[in-house]
Amino acid sequence: MKNIVILISGRGSNFEAILEASRAEQWESAVPARIAAVISNRPLAKGLETARREGIDAIAVDHTLYPDRESFEEELGRVVDRYNPDLIVLAGFMRILTEKFVKPREGRILNIHPALLPLFKGLNTHERALEAGVRVHGSTVHFVSAALDGGAIIGQAVVPVLPSDTPDTLAARGLKLEHVIYPKVCRAVLEDRVKLVDGKAVMDDETARSLAVF
Ligand code: GAR
Repeated sequence: MKNIVILISGRGSNFEAILEASRAEQWESAVPARIAAVISNRPLAKGLETARREGIDAIAVDHTLYPDRESFEEELGRVVDRYNPDLIVLAGFMRILTEKFVKPREGRILNIHPALLPLFKGLNTHERALEAGVRVHGSTVHFVSAALDGGAIIGQAVVPVLPSDTPDTLAARGLKLEHVIYPKVCRAVLEDRVKLVDGKAVMDDETARSLAVF
């Protein structure tokens, strides 16, 4: 059985989407894999409540209680490693992870970013997409590297940008497809259909097609 550990900071709707897919598709027997724990740097994150309700280990590692990034990451690493995770899924986790955390776990950490990378790395992606006047926008799932939002791209979900859009309407349209693409990518990585090789996400054509979502 492979263990998945999900890191969140808030709402946790992507965590819920992965949980729902894992149940609907019976990952415990089909992959086999299970969500072993949900960890949040914010103790009041709604996603932690959801995890508890669903009988999943829910743990807060409150970054405000640590004097610096390094000591926070050390504790986070200790808690994560307790679960021997085969896959670490950043799902709305809003802390930057440094090389010290990432390097030993490279190829096993995924992130979802609300933009079509390499465009709009960082924050306020929907505002910046509207400002730039792009006609498509979306979200990207990638392997995490030490470069912020710079790891190898695995899958992308694309939505139209409408003249009437606000950052909120655009975010909502994108989020719906995040809930489609993120479980698909997690399953593909767990099934070794996607691997990180020499800094690139390697997969066959069929997998790549399934991880381009419109
Ligand atoms: C998602 O839209 C995700 O792409 C974004 O935060 C949201 C979390 O929603 N992630 C980032 O901005 C990472 N830098 P959720 O908590 O409902 O899954």
